[in-house]
Amino acid sequence: MTLMNLPPSMLYISVCFSFLYFCLNPNKILSNAEIIRDGNNNVKGMFVFGSSYVDNGNNNFLPTLAKADYLPYGMDFESEYFGLPAFIPPFLDPSTNVNHSDVGVNYASGGSGILNSTGTIAGVVLSLNEQIRLFEEVTLPNLKNSSRESLSKYLCVIGSGGNDYTLNYFLNISQSNTSVEEFTAILISTLSSQIKKLYSLGLSKFVLMSLYPLGCSPVSIAAQQPPSNACVQYLNDAAQLFNSNLRTLINDIRPQMPGSNLIIVNAYNIIQDILGFPALKGFTNTTKPCCEVPSRAQGGNGISCKRGGSTCQDRDKFVYFDALHPTEAVNVILAKKAYASILTREVYPFNVWILAQI
Ligand SMILES: *[C@@H]1O[C@H](CO)[C@@H](O)[C@H](O)[C@H]1NC(C)=O
Ligand SMILES: *[C@@H]1O[C@H](CO)[C@@H](O)[C@H](O)[C@H]1NC(C)=O
Ligand SMILES: *[C@@H]1O[C@H](CO)[C@@H](O)[C@H](O)[C@H]1NC(C)=O
Ligand SMILES: *[C@@H]1O[C@H](CO)[C@@H](O)[C@H](O)[C@H]1NC(C)=O
Ligand SMILES: *[C@@H]1O[C@H](CO)[C@@H](O)[C@H](O)[C@H]1NC(C)=O
Ligand SMILES: *[C@@H]1O[C@H](CO)[C@@H](O)[C@H](O)[C@H]1NC(C)=O
Repeated sequence: MTLMNLPPSMLYISVCFSFLYFCLNPNKILSNAEIIRDGNNNVKGMFVFGSSYVDNGNNNFLPTLAKADYLPYGMDFESEYFGLPAFIPPFLDPSTNVNHSDVGVNYASGGSGILNSTGTIAGVVLSLNEQIRLFEEVTLPNLKNSSRESLSKYLCVIGSGGNDYTLNYFLNISQSNTSVEEFTAILISTLSSQIKKLYSLGLSKFVLMSLYPLGCSPVSIAAQQPPSNACVQYLNDAAQLFNSNLRTLINDIRPQMPGSNLIIVNAYNIIQDILGFPALKGFTNTTKPCCEVPSRAQGGNGISCKRGGSTCQDRDKFVYFDALHPTEAVNVILAKKAYASILTREVYPFNVWILAQI
């Protein structure tokens, strides 16, 4: 079965892309915060693992449909934070080499998931396990200083799990007798092992991204029959189930990893709050993508921007850039809240700024 033969409701989830600087870009947490440049130097850099929401370029080097290496993607890329050394080089970029590794590496791959089996439908992606293997086998031996003491000054950012539902569980549901609760338990226990592995390799400051409100993206909304402008409840329910288990996970795992600290950035709540009261932040369009997204009938995939296509006049008024990923305006809000929020519904149990200080 090729991607293009999938029914629209399945297709929308089957292509994710690598993003340059959209989506919660953890680099921006640092850029905003200027942690890397701040004199305290509590954070030397970061290692980033996960899917398209944190991928800043790896998929452009993989034979996959999940790419975003063309215009209009990248439009907002250089406008902000220019002059900063805080762009974490993607692992697969040939120019990423040992000289960069003191600011960290980004391994994230659009379409990938916590499980090895997730995302293969979109082509070749690096699963979370594979990303961790690259960190262990390629990056660590090349780090100038890979002592536990030195690695404790890096943030480990992990944003994965959404594709395990959209590109795996909900695609297979007809053949599977696994309940969403059982599946979520498998994801969380797998993620637990993965975090422990990274801890055993020396990382100790973890920033975990919650899942986004998967059912509110334009592609989810557009796929509904009969047509509706409401969010798709079963996708949001799955995301919330995962997120609440993630909270339990970090509370359970911390005592097993002495000296570690883990926080969750609750992107779900932050985005839901924007969608609930868009005008508060100047948004007017919460349901449609800013860029032109061709449907399958028009030769697209229902998610990605048209290559060289048009974009909306005022990108800051749209919540979604393409049919899946938020605009830069939303990502700036996410990044600022991740760094500085004092609300546990947004950052749990505390924010990135505090994590950086400990
Ligand atoms: C890495 O840095 C060293 C010393 O600064 C330099 O000589 C070398 O050319 C750099 N390598 C690459 C591939 O940029
Ligand atoms: C998942 O992939 C990793 C390497 O990327 C491999 O070591 C591991 O055995 C795989 N796990 C399963 C369950 O296939
Ligand atoms: C490695 O980094 C730690 C912490 O920054 C420092 O104390 C130690 O001296 C460094 N070791 C080397 C060999 O540079
Ligand atoms: C979904 O199907 C794929 C391919 O058959 C398989 O690798 C994967 O494990 C299945 N996932 C679930 C959750 O059953
Ligand atoms: C799912 O459950 C039904 C009824 O209990 C059973 O007949 C079927 O074999 C199961 N399918 C799988 C893949 O386990
Ligand atoms: C949102 O944008 C789309 C595409 O530009 C447009 O068709 C729609 O009317 C807009 N909706 C609102 C509420 O502004």
